[in-house]
Amino acid sequence: MLISGRGSNLKALIDACTDGRIDGRIITVVSNRPGAPGLEHARAAGIEQTVVDHRRFPDRAAFDRELAATLESSAPDLVILAGFMRVLTPEFVARFAGRMVNIHPSLLPALRGLDTHARALAAGMSTHGASVHFVTSELDGGPVIMQAQVPVCPGDTGETLAARVQLAEHRLYPAAVALICSGRVQCAGGTVLYDGQPLERPLLLDDLPEAATQCIGSP
Ligand code: GRF
Repeated sequence: MLISGRGSNLKALIDACTDGRIDGRIITVVSNRPGAPGLEHARAAGIEQTVVDHRRFPDRAAFDRELAATLESSAPDLVILAGFMRVLTPEFVARFAGRMVNIHPSLLPALRGLDTHARALAAGMSTHGASVHFVTSELDGGPVIMQAQVPVCPGDTGETLAARVQLAEHRLYPAAVALICSGRVQCAGGTVLYDGQPLERPLLLDDLPEAATQCIGSP
């Protein structure tokens, strides 16, 4: 897994592996930031952690080569990006094509890029959410596997909306990764296959906590 920060999605995935919702094991966690709080979740779970500090490399390509070598030393079946805040080179993406996923805090293809919660509010959207997608060299543009929707509530700020999306993400990422680990979801030629059939639209997760789907406590 690749992280840069808080690691709450990493924690959700660790828990899902521990309680059997995901038939898989997190072999290694790599952060590009030495002080990433998320590393603590890996440490507490006894998962190997490595820091590949991007500031030690002359350019993006050199950083990505070291990152790829670090990952490949543990021969992962799947590379999971969870709040990893570096844009990856096309060479890196090609190396892990079809076996690298990301979670993005919007209902893709809406709101690619940063500051999605503020942008959802500014656009007056009534529904927001998160997407899990296979990673391609197009930023936030790879084929989407599964999404979770949350309402934008009256009085929402970027923070309250982000908190609601995060609650949904903590169900969404384990659910999507479970489908990949079970072999039901695959990526072939830039298309998501679900039980061997091309997925026409992203799967929609309906198993969400009430706090993610209701405007509880909003004015
Ligand atoms: C998540 O909201 C995810 O959608 C985005 O970065 C955030 C990471 O949060 N890509 P965390 O580090 O997993 O808590």
